[in-house]
Amino acid sequence: MIPVCRLEDLPAGESVRIATTPPIAVFRTEDGELYAIDDTCTHQDASLSEGWLEGCLVECPLHAASFDLRTGEPTCLPARRPVRTHRVTVEDGVVHVHLGAEEGTAA
Ligand code: FES
Repeated sequence: MIPVCRLEDLPAGESVRIATTPPIAVFRTEDGELYAIDDTCTHQDASLSEGWLEGCLVECPLHAASFDLRTGEPTCLPARRPVRTHRVTVEDGVVHVHLGAEEGTAA
């Protein structure tokens, strides 16, 4: 379990990248839901935390593949493989990521 930041430091519509190996991107959607996925796009080497968040989808900043934060699955080309998802919890106002969650699970 990795502490990420205080919940109030991750406003809705924002993301934060944590320097794990591999790096992980944590998102807070406009609806206030928290999701964590591997930060590196499965198409090439782009940071998804720098992408555009829209609903539960994040669009890769490099070639605009889009990933569903709930499942890690790409929703359009050029990405074909999913990114791993990780469980997110909030304890005492601090966001935590739980590594090693099964693919297809999220907060
Ligand atoms: S690097 Fe993400 S779509 Fe190409």
